[in-house]
Amino acid sequence: MNLSIKHLFGLQGVPKDDITAILDTAFSFREVLERPVKKVPTLQGKTIVNLFFEPSTRTRISFELAEKRLSADTVNFSASTSSLSKGESLKDTIQNLFAMKMDVVVMRHSVPGAVKLLAQFVDAVIINAGDGTHEHPTQALLDMMSLKEKVGDLEDLNVAIIGDIRHSRVALSNIYGLKTMGANIMLCGPPTFIPYGVESLGVSVTYDLDEALVFADTVNVLRIQKERQDIGQIPSLREYRRLYGLTRERLNKLKKQITILHPGPINRQVEIDSEVADSEHSIILHQVLNGVAIRMAILYLLASGK
Ligand code: CP
Repeated sequence: MNLSIKHLFGLQGVPKDDITAILDTAFSFREVLERPVKKVPTLQGKTIVNLFFEPSTRTRISFELAEKRLSADTVNFSASTSSLSKGESLKDTIQNLFAMKMDVVVMRHSVPGAVKLLAQFVDAVIINAGDGTHEHPTQALLDMMSLKEKVGDLEDLNVAIIGDIRHSRVALSNIYGLKTMGANIMLCGPPTFIPYGVESLGVSVTYDLDEALVFADTVNVLRIQKERQDIGQIPSLREYRRLYGLTRERLNKLKKQITILHPGPINRQVEIDSEVADSEHSIILHQVLNGVAIRMAILYLLASGK
């Protein structure tokens, strides 16, 4: 199975056939993850470097696990313990790393587009593990896999993405990916969290959470990104919870069940109550498991032929 893309910078412009191939391959790898011996020799002899310039728990561990499950050799790089802290430039750091013959680089960086810049310096497969407020394609792919597993077809599924859309790379990748797969998307949050002109991406917008919940078959709840807010964009977390928090009381008013996703990390009792995050309608921990399978699929499809 070949993809039309050579790198995974984001989901903007990635064709439906590629997304379908990635999801189908990930479902095959899910079966490997259920075996007593959870390892295949698929990427034996390949070397992968994980470059994380921003903190991560789920994405970093899940890429590392996926690489080990595929029998690749892996190297982990953390900006805080590297020579970057002695003033070395990003370009020099990366060129030195690649003089050591890496086949694949997985990179998280705070600057939107940093992954594309990297592709100009190195001859390796590049996978975006989150670039600033831009894209987080593997998160959107694992969200789509989890939804497919729960509800079946994504075509005409009504998905509400709720919260801090403006600062969220998860939102943008989900919009691109889900639109390509035929889903309908409504964004919901306070006006300060909704980017100007976002309707041009083919989504609808509401500032009213109850309206979004009436529309939705499923909701993807995003965290408030406290680290990316230079000025106060909401009056208080208490006010935010009152207007936009996914609470049991709000869901009880609906005459239907809604599937709940959250990419993590969760601000419990702010954007979502613990009782809802841990309920039977939440698939948050399935998302984490599927994250390993999705990353195995991407690594296999992009790296095995290189
Ligand atoms: N969902 C996600 O990207 O989580 P981490 O920041 O922990 O990787």
